[in-house]
Amino acid sequence: MINVSESEVPIITVDGPSGTGKGTICSYLTDWLQWNFLDSGALYRVLALAAKNRGINNDDEVALATLAENLNVEFRIAGAGSLVNVVLDDKVVTDDIRTEEAGNAASLVAPIIAVREALLSRQKAFHKAPGLVADGRDMGTVVFPQATLKIYLTASAEERAKRRLKQLMDKGISANLRDLSADIAERDERDSTRAASPLKPAEDAVIVDTSSLGIDAVVEKISDLVKKRIPEIK
Ligand code: DC
Repeated sequence: MINVSESEVPIITVDGPSGTGKGTICSYLTDWLQWNFLDSGALYRVLALAAKNRGINNDDEVALATLAENLNVEFRIAGAGSLVNVVLDDKVVTDDIRTEEAGNAASLVAPIIAVREALLSRQKAFHKAPGLVADGRDMGTVVFPQATLKIYLTASAEERAKRRLKQLMDKGISANLRDLSADIAERDERDSTRAASPLKPAEDAVIVDTSSLGIDAVVEKISDLVKKRIPEIK
């Protein structure tokens, strides 16, 4: 284990649009390093679900910010490695928040500055020894600008839509490539053009294009980056 003071607890941020392999890479890193894991997208997804359950509209900024401040969400260890259950108001919502609809709803509440501010301290609280892997859109730019290693994953829109289609089909959920591509393009546009913490690489991020790389090649590349940046890790 790395022996460091609190402020030196290492952080690896993994940002990028959906379908670039962030989830897979983060669970690989979390299992390998045995560090804490922040799935920041899950927070926005849970908030959108909680708002829907309470009949709060996407444009009611005050109600959404209040809800974000008081959100009763918990990430419970659900098994080996990085598996967690997401619990909202004592109900497991792990699968409910993984749908395309939930992703889009999250992207609609995410531009609200007061919402982002309300979720900030919750995200920072994940920064604990022995280290943190943080997955999102603004992990390296806004939430953890001090991160030890910032990775920005990218891939062509076409490749990302194909991957998402496969993920959904593997789960037995029907979808078609054209609708998925349109949804992904719309979500990317909204996430990258919003004024508050838009999706973009940090200036000191390492950009990894995964369009033509299999997951093993991406894992190898990122493991090398980690070992180079944090020599204590072998
Ligand atoms: O990573 P994800 O697909 O679970 O994220 C869902 C949405 O949440 C994403 O489209 C935008 C928003 N989000 C955000 O604004 N900032 C983050 N750090 C993570 C997600």
